[in-house]
Amino acid sequence: MDSFSRRDVLRTFGLTAGSLSFINSETFAENNDEESVLIQHDERYITLERPVTAIVLGAGNRGNVYGRFSLAFPAELDIVGVAEPIPFRNDKYAKAHNIEEKNRFNTWEDVFKVPKFADAIIISTPDYMHYGPAMKALEMGYDVLLEKPISPSYQECLDILAMAKQTNRVIAVCHVLRYTPYFKKLKEIAQSGQFGKLISVNHLEGIEYQHMAHSYVRGNWHVAKETNPIILAKSCHDLDILRWIIGKPCKSISAHGSLSWFKKENAPEGSTERCTDGCKIEKECAFSAINIYHKQRLRIRVLDVTDDMAKQGDEIMEKLKTSPYGRCVYRMNNDQPDHYTTSMEFEDGVTVSFAMEAFTSFEARKTRLMFAQGEVWGDMDEIQTYDFRTKQHTKWRASELPEYKSQASGHAGGDYGLTRNFVQAVAQKKPELLTSTIDASIESHVMGFMAEKSRLNKQMVEVKI
Ligand SMILES: NC(=O)c1ccc[n+]([C@@H]2O[C@H](COP(=O)([O-])OP(=O)(O)OC[C@H]3O[C@@H](n4cnc5c(N)ncnc54)[C@H](O)[C@@H]3O)[C@@H](O)[C@H]2O)c1
Repeated sequence: MDSFSRRDVLRTFGLTAGSLSFINSETFAENNDEESVLIQHDERYITLERPVTAIVLGAGNRGNVYGRFSLAFPAELDIVGVAEPIPFRNDKYAKAHNIEEKNRFNTWEDVFKVPKFADAIIISTPDYMHYGPAMKALEMGYDVLLEKPISPSYQECLDILAMAKQTNRVIAVCHVLRYTPYFKKLKEIAQSGQFGKLISVNHLEGIEYQHMAHSYVRGNWHVAKETNPIILAKSCHDLDILRWIIGKPCKSISAHGSLSWFKKENAPEGSTERCTDGCKIEKECAFSAINIYHKQRLRIRVLDVTDDMAKQGDEIMEKLKTSPYGRCVYRMNNDQPDHYTTSMEFEDGVTVSFAMEAFTSFEARKTRLMFAQGEVWGDMDEIQTYDFRTKQHTKWRASELPEYKSQASGHAGGDYGLTRNFVQAVAQKKPELLTSTIDASIESHVMGFMAEKSRLNKQMVEVKI
């Protein structure tokens, strides 16, 4: 990845931080390590006369992703309002974005009690809290950036789609993988026809064992009925990307999976309710909260602790004594499967086997496409192809693709790619610029609903949109 220090970029271009963006030439953003890196360019995009203004509902992890985009590209996106019930988050967000007092709200409902005051609403509230704000925002004439999954209910998905059509607003769903240079390249190769007919696909989503413990055992998504089944909460990205790469609809689906490991009967002897309660095996436990949050300082944003390093360690330890993130992974009330395999048949007999796995050392997707005349495979870093006729073997490192120089943000560059796409669609009033539309997203959500139905009823289910 081409990366510069922020200072180098500013020095090279003689810019100030506030002008660190230019469409139609090279554009820079900050990556997760706060380095400035070159990001994707799209010839359909224009230089904006003024930034798109938006109100963020939910200033948690995702709300801050869009917030960081706006700070890196103030000429494109200006966040002018926030709704967030946790005072620590609301204060921090309002300060970072210079939000006026009158535009700060405790809860999303309050935003819609005042007249419309921005172009768009960004919905980054918890999964079960998307429907209300989406319907209200569309009704009041806002464009909408809607976090996935759209809703845990099929009917609510359809209602949002109908409201979007009725109001003719721009609405994008945050299927960020569609915006990654890697998946764009994989789709381009898959649909080029160079290897003949697509016969089948094998796709593996490795969640990574600590990420699983964080989000789906201890964290926000640990109980399916309070959020979404994991096939939607986590793997709607994969169902969406498979549908997108294959370019044909899914016809039927059959799924298996269960919660095998993170259960009370697997709690090791000597383990305690919390890792901080004197657990005898804490030091050797792969899921130790003390190791993950205090020692490694991974994913600590959820703990709302200070950035002051002198005080941070103590605050983390305090939070581990009270928040779910300090609880033993074997003693939660979690119910999300930790392994989930799905067989699907797409139009023209294309078969897909997809496995979502918690117990992997890596956090990435590995995909293998089998064509009549060749094979294509990738792991989000490298894409390889093999032509049966010529015996030619090609290899791309994703980081060497011209458009990839740009891995600028989370989700392999997808987060900022998505945000910019939405901003352009709103500014140009052109919903057709969107890659991740509500119509396409509902199709892959239905695949998820049907997969879960199949898993629970132990039978194959037809997918009808
Ligand atoms: N696109 C992606 O790749 C991706 C990745 C992670 C999460 N998500 C989705 O994004 C959404 C947010 O996830 P997150 O990880 O940011 O969660 P989060 O818990 O970090 O953030 C959600 C925020 O909403 C706030 N909130 C709760 N009630 C509210 C209310 N009444 N009004 C306004 N705000 C309220 C919470 O206090 C919290 O700060 C979820 O639907 C999640 O599934 C998408």
